[in-house]
Amino acid sequence: MNNLAEKISQLKKEKNAVILAHYYQETEIQDVADYVGDSLGLSQKAAEINADIIVFAGVHFMAETAKILNPDKKVLLPDLEAGCSLADSCSPEAFKEFIDRYPDHLVITYINCSAEVKAMSDIVCTSSNALKIVNSIPENRPIIFAPDQNLGRYIISQTGRNMMLWTGECVVHTAFSIEKLIDVHKEHPDAKIIAHPESEEHILKVASFIGSTAALINHVKSNVHDKFIVATEAGILHKMQQEVPDKKLIPAPAKEDNTCACSECGYMKVNTLQKLHDCLINESPEIILSEELIEKALIPIKRMLDIS
Ligand code: 13P
Ligand code: SF4
Repeated sequence: MNNLAEKISQLKKEKNAVILAHYYQETEIQDVADYVGDSLGLSQKAAEINADIIVFAGVHFMAETAKILNPDKKVLLPDLEAGCSLADSCSPEAFKEFIDRYPDHLVITYINCSAEVKAMSDIVCTSSNALKIVNSIPENRPIIFAPDQNLGRYIISQTGRNMMLWTGECVVHTAFSIEKLIDVHKEHPDAKIIAHPESEEHILKVASFIGSTAALINHVKSNVHDKFIVATEAGILHKMQQEVPDKKLIPAPAKEDNTCACSECGYMKVNTLQKLHDCLINESPEIILSEELIEKALIPIKRMLDIS
């Protein structure tokens, strides 16, 4: 453990703090975290935390969700600039106009959205439980699904539901190049392609398995194959490789890869070990939400957790 990691460990004890981290965080952040998971796992963990401070090493909507589930605790995010292109694509004002046009529709929002958008939703979902949540809605009930159109289309393909989609996208998962992916597969014909459902349809079509970050890791662990091309953010390869040290993992290639052969989320990567350390010392930046917003946004999150 390096010096900074040791200091963080000490500060955690002194301040009765817990660090939650997403699989897309820098390796050194994942290594000091108390729990590393996907969006659903992190929400479930946040719902049962017994600590005074939660440091959320992830992006803003994730830390907000932890705050909504823990209104009396201090929730810190190492850098408030850690946003998300999906959440940014869906402003509360534009979303209100959209849902007002379809008053008979049930509103399902992917967890990658702001607390204000969650507060306008009937139920939240993640990539782990989106199919289950949509399947739990009576077939005659029309659905709005926001903000990820690629996940939405994937769910439509699996359920046959005719959902009204918001047209947001993840900049990371839409950066994969199908041509380059096919070239890499030609070089490694024995490898299986696996993909996150935020990826575009043409990527999902060539994948042998589609799932959330946690589901992708579990698949690689339990599958008999020993070579995988992984179409999701490259940070996942750290935990994945730890779980399967003898298997070969190849990051799916991005369209413009002059500097990096893979796809990295710039929002996730604004958090650093130093910023994590500093936010524990300063107990800031902190996620602050109004009581009214927390009350409203909690309802669709609780529905999701109950179904999961
Ligand atoms: P999951 O970890 O829930 O699959 O989400 C992926 C993602 O893009 C988070 O921003
Ligand atoms: Fe948002 Fe995509 Fe980054 Fe996840 S990987 S935080 S969905 S921009």
